[in-house]
Amino acid sequence: MAETSPTRHTLDLTDRVVIVTGGATGIGKIYSTRLAEAGARVVIADIVDEANQALAKELTGRGLQALAKTTDVADQKMTEDLAKATADKWGRIDGLVNNASLMSVLGRKPWTEIPAAEWDRVMQVNTKGPFLCALAVYPYMKAQGGGKIVNIASSRVWEGGKWRLHYSASKGAVLVFTRALAREVGDDNICVNSISPGFTLSETQIANSSNSHMSMQADADKCFARGQVPDDLVGALMFLLSDASNYITGQCINVDGGRSMH
Ligand SMILES: NC(=O)c1ccc[n+]([C@@H]2O[C@H](COP(=O)([O-])OP(=O)(O)OC[C@H]3O[C@@H](n4cnc5c(N)ncnc54)[C@H](O)[C@@H]3O)[C@@H](O)[C@H]2O)c1
Repeated sequence: MAETSPTRHTLDLTDRVVIVTGGATGIGKIYSTRLAEAGARVVIADIVDEANQALAKELTGRGLQALAKTTDVADQKMTEDLAKATADKWGRIDGLVNNASLMSVLGRKPWTEIPAAEWDRVMQVNTKGPFLCALAVYPYMKAQGGGKIVNIASSRVWEGGKWRLHYSASKGAVLVFTRALAREVGDDNICVNSISPGFTLSETQIANSSNSHMSMQADADKCFARGQVPDDLVGALMFLLSDASNYITGQCINVDGGRSMH
């Protein structure tokens, strides 16, 4: 009976073509790796060329499907080249994960100490970037009859969060961008959703966080009293990229061990 069940294959991502921006380091590296391991064709679109190439080489060396396409998501021409290179390689674009962000590289400082130029760059990468990437993949998704866009927000949109005010504001924009874009592309059968991760022990986050900050963030207010790791986010991402979520759009899945509830 199981073989004929219409729901049996809804989480299957085999040969799905998925772009992961910022996909070469940190949480994005885990997204790229797990998606490739699930059988997807992954385009790793990070700004750091060396890391991009290294991960693509590692994944293809394991017999998985991956392409490195170095991209600054704030550069419109590069996002258009990214979409074209993806379609040239695999003929379609099924998913876009807007994960690239300026976060771990930003120091934790009071809002009065944020240089205006740094504010502008954060907005360019974290809010204009997802817009430009969505714009670039849209013609392909529309032409093929649908697609999935997953934007990575932050649990800061529920909590506020002290320091990195520009980062917090940029992620609030990502949440509303998700809702508003979902309304614009529903007729094209494109789902637009977001994930709001809690404080996650990515390699980059650890490298840029003091131990006292990390322990301050850790565990006390959660339902699950342990640190969050990148793999905790993968299930929600795969669900939102798969056919199992085809009637879900404009939503945000909060993945933070139950710290915030909304
Ligand atoms: N780690 C956390 O605690 C946490 C919490 C909430 C949300 N998030 C979000 O999850 C995502 C991944 O987090 P992370 O910890 O890996 O962050 P990170 O800052 O360590 O990594 C971001 C990635 O984006 C890339 N990048 C930066 N600028 C880029 C650009 N202009 N174009 C393309 N790529 C660019 C970086 O090279 C890096 O690979 C981000 O969107 C982040 O805001 C993380």
